[in-house]
Amino acid sequence: MRRFLTSMACFLLLTGFAGTRLAFAAGGGQQQATTSQPKAAADSTDFVGQETCATCHADVATKFGTNPHSRLALQHAGKGVTCESCHGPGKAHVEGGGDVTKIRRFDKLSAKDVSATCLGCHAGAHPNFDRSPHAKANVSCLGCHSVHAPEAQEHLLKAEQPKLCFTCHSDQKAAFDMPFHHPVNEGAVSCSDCHDPHGTFGNNNLKSTADQNMICTKCHAETRGPFVYEHAAVKAEGCVGCHTPHGSQNARLLNMPNINVLCNQCHSRVANHTINGMGAGSDELAPCTSCHTYIHGSNINQAFLR
Ligand code: HEC
Ligand code: HEC
Ligand code: HEC
Ligand code: HEC
Ligand code: HEC
Ligand code: HEC
Ligand code: HEC
Ligand code: HEC
Ligand code: HEC
Ligand code: HEC
Repeated sequence: MRRFLTSMACFLLLTGFAGTRLAFAAGGGQQQATTSQPKAAADSTDFVGQETCATCHADVATKFGTNPHSRLALQHAGKGVTCESCHGPGKAHVEGGGDVTKIRRFDKLSAKDVSATCLGCHAGAHPNFDRSPHAKANVSCLGCHSVHAPEAQEHLLKAEQPKLCFTCHSDQKAAFDMPFHHPVNEGAVSCSDCHDPHGTFGNNNLKSTADQNMICTKCHAETRGPFVYEHAAVKAEGCVGCHTPHGSQNARLLNMPNINVLCNQCHSRVANHTINGMGAGSDELAPCTSCHTYIHGSNINQAFLR
C-alpha cells in the first residue's frame, strides 16, 4: 500500500496534476480523487494559484481563510485545498478577464456532477452517497452544505438541524409535535443521530450500530441484549414493530393506544389466558406488561415476568 501511495505521488508530481495532488493530500477517498478529479488533460500550467484568485475575489478569498477547507492549506504551507481544487484550473478564466464560462460554477452543474466534485475527496468518509435516497432524488451535497456561506456553526451546513431537514421534509414535522416524541425540536436528539443523510446500507438512510442492530440500542442500551430469553418480536420486526420512532399520540411512542391490542396482534392465541385464577390478557383487563414487564427480553424468565 505504501509503495502504491509513493509511486502514485511520483506519478502525480511528474504529470503535474496540481489539483489532483491536492485532492490526494486531503485524505479519505484518495483513490477516487485521483481518478475523478482532473478534467480532461489539465496541465499544471492551467492553474494560477489562490493568490491570483484573491486579487479579484478578495471577499470570498478572505472569508475562505477560516473555512475548514483552509485548515489543510495552512498545514501544508498553502498546498492544501485551494480555490482550484473545486473550481478547476483558472487560467482561461483569468485570461478572459473573469470569463464565467471558463470556470467551474456549481449552480450550472447537475446534482451528480456537483457531488462527484466533492466526492473526489470525500468518498472515503461517505462511500454510500451515490446509492442514497438523496442522490437518487438529485439532492447534491449543496442541498445541505454551502462552502462559502454556511449558516450553521459546524460542518458547513446551510442551516442547523432540524430546520435544515424540515425545509424539505415538512411532512415529518408534525410527528415531532405529537404529545410523545423524540426530543428533536428540543435539541436533545438530532435527525442525524438515527439517519445518515449521506446514505447507509439500510433502508430509510438508517444508521445501524456496530453489531448491526438498529441504531436505537445505542441510546437505549437496556433493550439491546443478547438475552437468555429473547422476545422474537424485537429481533424479527425491530423496534418499529411496536414503536413509532418520530412521535406518537401514545405513551412510550407505541404504535397503538392500547398495549393489549398491540400484543394481541400476534398473541391472540393467549388473549384470554387465565393464570392462577386471575383473568388476564383481554383488551380491557390489566395491561400485558403489568406482568410481562421485561418485554424486550429477559435473562431470568421465559415469559418476561418480573
Ligand atoms: C482578473 C480578475 C479575476 C481573477 C484573477 C479571477 N476571477 Fe473569477 N471572476 C471574475 C469576474 C469579473 C467574474 C464575473 C463577475 C462575477 O460574477 O463576480 C468572475 C466570476 C467567477 C466565478 C463565477 C461566479 C458566479 O457568480 O457564478 C467563479 C466561481 C470564479 N470567478 C472563481 C474564480 C477562481 C477560482 C479564480 C482563481 C483561479 C478566479 N475566479 C480568478 C474575475 C476574476
Ligand atoms: C471545497 C470546494 C470549494 C473551494 C475550495 C472553493 N469554492 Fe468557491 N464555490 C464552491 C461552491 C460549492 C460554490 C457554490 C456556492 C456555495 O456553496 O457557497 C462556490 C461558489 C463560488 C463563487 C460564486 C459566488 C458565491 O460566493 O456564491 C465564487 C466567486 C467562488 N466560489 C470563488 C472561490 C474562490 C476565490 C475560492 C478560493 C479562495 C473558492 N471559491 C474556493 C466550492 C468551493
Ligand atoms: C480537494 C479536496 C476536497 C474537495 C474537492 C472538497 N473537499 Fe471538503 N474537505 C476537504 C478537506 C481536506 C477538509 C478538511 C478536513 C478536516 O479538517 O478534517 C474538508 C472539509 C469539509 C467539510 C467538513 C467541515 C467540518 O467542519 O467538519 C465539509 C462539510 C465539506 N468538506 C464539504 C465539501 C463539499 C460540499 C464539497 C464540494 C462542493 C467539498 N467538500 C469538496 C477536502 C475537499
Ligand atoms: C441531506 C443533507 C446532506 C447532504 C445531501 C449531504 N450532507 Fe454532508 N452532512 C450533513 C449533516 C446533517 C452533517 C452533520 C453530520 C452529523 O451531525 O452527524 C454532515 C456532515 C458532513 C461532513 C463532516 C462530518 C462527516 O461526517 O464527515 C462532511 C465532510 C460532509 N457532510 C460532506 C458531504 C458531501 C461531500 C456530500 C455530497 C456527496 C454531502 N455531505 C451531502 C447533511 C448532508
Ligand atoms: C434539499 C432538500 C432536502 C434536504 C435539505 C434534506 N432532504 Fe432528505 N430527502 C430529500 C428527497 C427529495 C428525498 C427522496 C424522496 C423522499 O423519499 O422524500 C429524501 C429522502 C430522505 C430519507 C429517506 C426516505 C425514504 O423514504 O427512504 C431520509 C431518511 C431523509 N431524507 C432524511 C433527511 C435528513 C435527516 C435531513 C437533514 C439532515 C434531510 N433529509 C435533508 C430531500 C431533502
Ligand atoms: C430516534 C430515531 C430517529 C430520529 C431522531 C429521526 N428519525 Fe426519521 N426515521 C426513523 C426510523 C426508525 C424510520 C423508519 C420508520 C419505519 O420503518 O417505519 C424513519 C423514517 C424516516 C423517513 C422516511 C419516511 C417515513 O416517515 O417513514 C424520513 C423522511 C425521516 N425519517 C426523516 C427524519 C427527519 C427529517 C428527522 C429529524 C427531524 C428524523 N427523521 C429523525 C428514526 C428516526
Ligand atoms: C441519540 C440517542 C437516541 C437514539 C438513537 C434513540 N433514542 Fe429513543 N429516546 C432518546 C431520548 C433522549 C428520549 C427521551 C427520554 C425522556 O424523555 O426521558 C427517548 C425516548 C424514547 C422512548 C420513550 C421512552 C419513555 O420513557 O417514554 C422510546 C419508546 C424510544 N425512545 C424508542 C426509540 C427507538 C425505537 C429508537 C430507534 C428508532 C430510538 N429510541 C433511538 C434517545 C435516543
Ligand atoms: C413487542 C413490542 C415491542 C418491541 C418490538 C419493542 N418494544 Fe419497546 N416497549 C414496548 C412496550 C409495550 C413498552 C411499554 C412498557 C410499559 O409501559 O410498561 C416499551 C417501552 C420502551 C421504552 C421505555 C422504557 C421502558 O423500558 O419501559 C423504550 C426506551 C423502548 N421501549 C425502546 C425499545 C427499543 C430500542 C426497541 C428495539 C430494540 C424496542 N423498544 C422494541 C414494546 C416493544
Ligand atoms: C410482531 C408480533 C409480536 C408482538 C406485537 C408481540 N409479540 Fe410476543 N412474541 C412474538 C413471537 C413470535 C414470540 C415467540 C413465540 C413462540 O416462541 O412461540 C413471542 C413471545 C412472547 C412471550 C413468551 C412466550 C413463551 O413461549 O414463553 C411472551 C410472554 C410475549 N411474547 C408477550 C408479548 C407481549 C406482552 C406483547 C405486547 C407488549 C407482545 N408479546 C407483542 C411476537 C410478538
Ligand atoms: C396478571 C398477569 C398477566 C397478564 C396481565 C398477562 N399475562 Fe401472559 N402470562 C402470565 C403468566 C404468569 C404466564 C405463565 C408464565 C409461565 O408459564 O411461565 C403467562 C404466559 C403468557 C405467554 C406464554 C404462554 C403461552 O401460552 O404460550 C404469553 C405469550 C402471554 N402470557 C401473553 C400475554 C399477553 C399478550 C397478555 C396481554 C394481552 C398477557 N399475557 C397478560 C401473566 C400475565
